[in-house]
This record gives sequence, C-alpha cells and structure tokens, in this order.
Amino acid sequence: MKYLVTGAAGFIGAATCQRLLDSEHEVVGLDNLNSYYLPRLKQYRLDKLQNQSNFREARIDLADRAAMQALFAKEKFQRVIHLGAQAGVRYSIEAPFDYVDSNLVGTMSILEGCRHHDVEHLVYASSSSVYGMNPKIPFSESDAVDHPVSLYAATKKSNELMAHSYSNLYNIATTGLRFFTVYGPAGRPDMAPWLFTEAILNNKPIKVFNQGKMQRDFTYIDDIVEGIVRIQDVIPKANAQDPLNNPATSTAPYRLYNIGNNNPIELATFIDAIEQACGKKAEKILLPMQAGDVQRTYADIDALVSATGHQPSVDIYQGIEKFVAWYKAFHK
Ligand SMILES: NC(=O)c1ccc[n+]([C@@H]2O[C@H](COP(=O)([O-])OP(=O)(O)OC[C@H]3O[C@@H](n4cnc5c(N)ncnc54)[C@H](O)[C@@H]3O)[C@@H](O)[C@H]2O)c1
Repeated sequence: MKYLVTGAAGFIGAATCQRLLDSEHEVVGLDNLNSYYLPRLKQYRLDKLQNQSNFREARIDLADRAAMQALFAKEKFQRVIHLGAQAGVRYSIEAPFDYVDSNLVGTMSILEGCRHHDVEHLVYASSSSVYGMNPKIPFSESDAVDHPVSLYAATKKSNELMAHSYSNLYNIATTGLRFFTVYGPAGRPDMAPWLFTEAILNNKPIKVFNQGKMQRDFTYIDDIVEGIVRIQDVIPKANAQDPLNNPATSTAPYRLYNIGNNNPIELATFIDAIEQACGKKAEKILLPMQAGDVQRTYADIDALVSATGHQPSVDIYQGIEKFVAWYKAFHK
C-alpha cells in the first residue's frame, strides 16, 4: 500500500516508517526537519530510511497549503499516518504560535488532502495530555476531556474535534491515538529519559519536578508502533446505531484509542531504572510542579486491546536499558 507518514524524521514517525518499509509498503515520509531539537538526530533517523528503495522523503511544512495540496494530488496515498506536530508540553508556553501553525493549520492540510483524494484511513497522533485535570484514573476514552492544562493539549484535543467534523461531513475514516509518554532508542532530547541519562552520564544533577511525586504511564516505542500498525487495519465505519454518549465513538467513521502501558511508574522507579542502566547514582534537585504538567497519567487500554489484540507490555527496566545503550552508541 502507499502511505504518507508525517513527522517521518521524528521519534515515532521514523520508527513507524521503518515498520511499514519492513512490510514492503511504499512510504512517503514528510517532515520539515525544524530545529526544535537536535537536527543531527532527525537527520540520523532519516538517513536510515533513505537507504531503502520503497522510501521517499518529502521535505514540506505541514502548514504550507499549496505544497500539501500538490503532494496529495501527485501521490494519491491510500493511507495517511499523521504524526508530524510541534510536540512538547513546556515549549507550548514559550512558543504558542508554533503549535497553532504545525498542529492546527498542519492538521487542516492533512484533513483537506484526505477529503479531496480518497484516502481510505487517516490515523493521527493525539496525546494523553488531553486528559488534563481529570482526576479519575485510569484515563478512559469515554471520559470527557474539557480541561486541558497546556496549549499543546488544547491543540491535540482540537485535532480530535477537527477530525470528527471531517469524518462526519465527508465520510473520512479517522482514528485518533492518544499516546502515553513514549520512550526508547532514538527518543526525543526534550524528554525525561534523555535529559536524565545525559545528566547522570555527565555527572550533572537532574531536575526532579513536583518533589518527585509524579507518575507516568511510560510506553516503549515498539509497543506504540505495533499499535499504530494494527489500528491501520481497523477502519472505522459510519454506523447510525453507534452511541453518541461516548466521546470515543460516533455515528461518523471516527474512533479514538489510548495507547499506553496501563502501568503508571513512579518517578523514583523511573530514575532507578536509569541509574541501573547508567551504572551511576543521580544527584537530584527537587523542584516544584511546572506549569502545564500533570501529576499522573494512566491509560485504560481495553478499547485498544479489544480492537487490535495488542497489549503494550515492555517493562520499564528493559526499555530504559535499551534506550541508554542506544544513547551511548549515538554519542560515541
Ligand atoms: N513522544 C511522546 O511521548 C508523545 C506523547 C503523546 C503524543 N505524541 C505525539 O506523537 C507525534 C509524534 O511525536 P514524536 O515524539 O515523534 O515527536 P517528534 O518531535 O520527534 O516528531 C515530530 C516531527 O514532526 C516534524 N514537524 C513538526 N512541525 C512540522 C511541520 N509544520 N511540518 C512538517 N513537519 C513538522 C518535526 O520536525 C519532527 O520530526 C506528535 O504528534 C506528538 O504530539 C508524542
């Protein structure tokens, strides 16, 4: 099949492209290679993909309407996996318009492309951050998510609403995936696994927010990619009988799923896993909660398991060991 994968030089996008290439699909990988973090890491991920004959790069900004229209018209994609976005909760406080351009305008380009070019299924990245202030755990797709605590979260929730309107208006099959703190080899430099590993290996202190009283449902990259690939084949259908009292379903061909490990990890356990993998103890600076952060994430994944049979399961100690081994090799 012919796929468009956006965010192809990104952490999840590059791993997803590789998985599709391994299954002999044709993949066009779109990215603008922006400098939000280490361009060298984005290029490293892309270099691996570019060696393969069934991969082509499209260096385009999602917000460039004309270029996006031309790409869809030329390529006639069967399926689209939209992972390109301005990610990061904290940076959305510093650079809000980057989120509007990439996440809102960019997603609009994708929806319009799918509308005019008969795309069979659009799978797009949402985020656990949409659960915002919700006190009820585990977080379920059937919960209302109306209290985001960052602009990043607000753009991801907006993407779900935009997708719903297009599923309804134009009968486009869309599936939103709410990812829960993804980590693993070639992961992001702005996230805790990288920041802590970097500090510990260089004998620098680590910043521990909310005095360490945090929990995250860390999900290993292979588990995320498995979920993305399997959900591709679960194409939502319009069904007038589907209940409208559940925000995750609709009479339109629209679905939402959590992808998380369903096993929140205490920050102390996470730090212990990194210390073990690095073979060194961390020096900790305890700090208050940061604006935009949430104290805990915890995914209810019953819907994902029942739709795909896939249950994310990689243990944090094993996953962190693989990440730290990759990190050391990358920096050699
Ligand atoms: N990694 C996580 O823990 C996590 C959690 C929840 C949701 N997500 C979502 O999953 C998706 C992938 O995340 P990731 O961790 O791989 O992030 P990433 O930053 O590594 O990848 C995103 C890619 O999109 C590209 N991009 C950004 N704006 C663009 C634009 N305007 N035009 C073209 N390309 C653009 C970037 O250059 C980058 O390579 C994102 O939508 C993110 O919001 C990630």
